[in-house]
Amino acid sequence: MTSIVKQKSTSSAMLTEVLEGLQKPQKTLPSKYFYDKRGSELFEKICTLDEYYLTRTELEIMQHNIREITSTLGKHVQLIELGSGSSLKTRLLLDHLDDIHSYVPVDISEEFLQNVTRDLQKEYPDLLIEPIAADYTKPFDLSESPEGVKKLFYFPGSTIGNFTRQKAADFIGLISNLIQEKGGLLIGFDLIKDREKLIAAYDDSKGVTAAFNKNILVRINRELNADFDPDQFKHRAVFNEKESRIEMHLVSLEEQSVTICREVICFEEGETIHTENSHKYSLRSFREMSAPFFENVQTWMDDEQLFAIQFLS
Ligand code: TRP
Repeated sequence: MTSIVKQKSTSSAMLTEVLEGLQKPQKTLPSKYFYDKRGSELFEKICTLDEYYLTRTELEIMQHNIREITSTLGKHVQLIELGSGSSLKTRLLLDHLDDIHSYVPVDISEEFLQNVTRDLQKEYPDLLIEPIAADYTKPFDLSESPEGVKKLFYFPGSTIGNFTRQKAADFIGLISNLIQEKGGLLIGFDLIKDREKLIAAYDDSKGVTAAFNKNILVRINRELNADFDPDQFKHRAVFNEKESRIEMHLVSLEEQSVTICREVICFEEGETIHTENSHKYSLRSFREMSAPFFENVQTWMDDEQLFAIQFLS
């Protein structure tokens, strides 16, 4: 078995972050806590919904352009995937990359990494897989690539949209620092489009996104000994035009108080917990952000220009 390099994450850290968020004037919760087992299952379901165009569009762009993309990425690469892993998109890259050196999935969940590594190793017995358990939004340790091997970061799923603009810019800077000579970043992001289509993607008719959003409360109840009543909160997705982002909130349906590990948090009726942002970019606004760190850009899009994939180097 490949051993997993672990970086610290404890439930006391979770408690601190959760309380900190809920004590702000605009209550927030760290969105990384969406993804427990149930949350990850619900998210996978979101990705198959009609209204959620993002996943299938990104895959379509990859499928239509895979030869051009992999020839742009070049030979002897170390493919470092941030989050996710084992998806169809990853397999496309693994199948088409010429003489790949290794695959390095980076994810915060050790259990998830173990499963990904086991499954992929079965399918690709000759592939060198070196998983790293880390929060990739913070600097993490990465060994030097051997001579002649390029570091290629892969960040699909428009996860960059979930960072604030400042954090997104910092993140691109962080990656550019980790790339040694000749490496690059292959990244997917969602494009600005009409409000109705955007909102539908984050407030689907089957209520899967609502269940996903509320699941964070269920997780906090279980892991931090809290007493949220998820039925007393309603999912809401709004498009904040000024920030060019979809915001996800949980709206308190009544005046109520919740206890989390002996701390009491009070809610007014209609008060919200802001749980997530999903920023939407234009090619121009995304370029403005990456220009200080990367000289070259190559872009692939679908016909409707819903979604973009770029290679920054
Ligand atoms: N990266 C995804 C996105 O912004 C995450 C996501 C999709 C999400 N639907 C969600 C996050 C609903 C919170 C709630 O599109």
